[in-house]
Amino acid sequence: MQTGLVTFVVEPPIDLRETSRVALARISHSDVPIPKDRRRDVDRPPGPSGARLLRRFIIGDQAPWFMVEVERDYPTLAHFTLIGEHTYALTSPDAIVDVYIGHGRETMKGRGLQGTKAVLGNGLLTSEGEVHLRNRRLVQPAFHRDRIAAYSRDMVDLTLAHERNWQDGQALDMQTDMAVLTLTIVGRTLFGSDLAGDAHEIGNALESLLQGMGRYLVLGPSALRLPVPARKRALRSFARIDRIVDRVIDQHRAQGDTGDMLSMLIAAEEDGSGFTDAQVRDEAMTLILAGHETTAMTMTWTWMLLAQHPHVAEWLHDELDCVLGGRAPSMDDLASLPRTRAVIAEAIRLYPPAWIQGRRVLADVEVAGWTIPAGAITLISQFALHRSPRWWESSLTFLPQRWIDAGGAFSEEAPGQPRGAWFPFGWGNRRCIGEQFAWMEATMILATLAQGWRPELVPGSDISVVPAVTLRSKGGMPMVLRRR
Ligand code: HEM
Repeated sequence: MQTGLVTFVVEPPIDLRETSRVALARISHSDVPIPKDRRRDVDRPPGPSGARLLRRFIIGDQAPWFMVEVERDYPTLAHFTLIGEHTYALTSPDAIVDVYIGHGRETMKGRGLQGTKAVLGNGLLTSEGEVHLRNRRLVQPAFHRDRIAAYSRDMVDLTLAHERNWQDGQALDMQTDMAVLTLTIVGRTLFGSDLAGDAHEIGNALESLLQGMGRYLVLGPSALRLPVPARKRALRSFARIDRIVDRVIDQHRAQGDTGDMLSMLIAAEEDGSGFTDAQVRDEAMTLILAGHETTAMTMTWTWMLLAQHPHVAEWLHDELDCVLGGRAPSMDDLASLPRTRAVIAEAIRLYPPAWIQGRRVLADVEVAGWTIPAGAITLISQFALHRSPRWWESSLTFLPQRWIDAGGAFSEEAPGQPRGAWFPFGWGNRRCIGEQFAWMEATMILATLAQGWRPELVPGSDISVVPAVTLRSKGGMPMVLRRR
């Protein structure tokens, strides 16, 4: 509609029935047959009762704490039945390494991620087998070391631009603010697009999707048939995020090859066959959502912990003042900023954005003398293992110093935890493709912003975790910006 100088774009109304049909088709798709464990001839290890499972894991927001209790009470593995499926929580580092690395290729993703296909489709995070391998080969070049080095300049520039909106004494929701920043970064670096204007829309859609529908996704396709109010909100969110991603892809096609990751996906040719339109959409959606929400939550929890521990903030500020002295950081400073990285690692330890992972085993697996039959689900929880007093000294204390080795450098081995007790980015062939991107981004954001600011928590704020697909903070993170 054209009215003088102002153009209004009227979006067609959202067809909920069609959105539901598309989401169900996506959620029901699997690249490999999904086996079910119906065995009656195997012994199962003990585990928590059905009542406790219902009370602590399924209803309410207690699932991360339930996993902490299971890790404490069953120190190797525990069995329970979750929505009619045999489920094994792996609670020892050895059991985790054994299944997720030793038998990684004989597993597929669990029910929760199957549920997220409603919005993600069949991209890198959710595809399986040969389809996943091919997707990974095609996307990998975008995460090559040299590309990340080039992104680091954009990461700093966009953070500096974001900082210009911060004002001394300003109250804000840090969770939303960091999501705007990380979405802007992922949009520019991987898609050559300005997603800043869409941040609010994507944020709202994600909120209703993750917090409203998140807990039901474990039900798989049935989640979309539940007569709960969250269903309609989630469907609207799917449709809105779909429209944004379709627009980004259309704009890109119109521009031609701009040398970024989306151009690469559109042009991808392997064995004569490239990505179909639907595959480009699914990869783009996956990278936009997986690539911004996790880092946004990392930064949100980092700001909260720094506000709660002013002596740690001072320890960090000393490093930033000494190494950067007020100038913007660059990739060359990384090795000189061990404390910055240690603060981020410690925040990820206590508040891992990916807090639980599930896998369905495709063949029988022996663990600690028990048989986990093909088709059973295994669960591992970063939240539980990263907080376990069995593997971490002063496990619940925010102690970034633990990540600094005797030579003063940052080291992921410095705390002395066994392999299998620290896995924020997952494992093996399904390990996070954005891990180096995320470290670079979080370090550049923190080094840039913490030089000039020490955000405070709004007094009396009641902060608690919400176990959505990522570990979010209930009601956001109310903070007040303070200049240093
Ligand atoms: C602190 C930030 C991040 C954390 C904690 C994190 C965590 C994880 C974890 C645990 C997985 C494995 C999931 C599973 O096995 O079920 C994963 C996979 C993945 N992540 Fe990340 N991630 C982060 C940042 C990013 C970024 C910045 C991107 C992209 C720009 C990204 C893209 C992906 C993709 C595409 C996968 C699927 C990889 C595959 O299966 O081949 N992530 N991430």
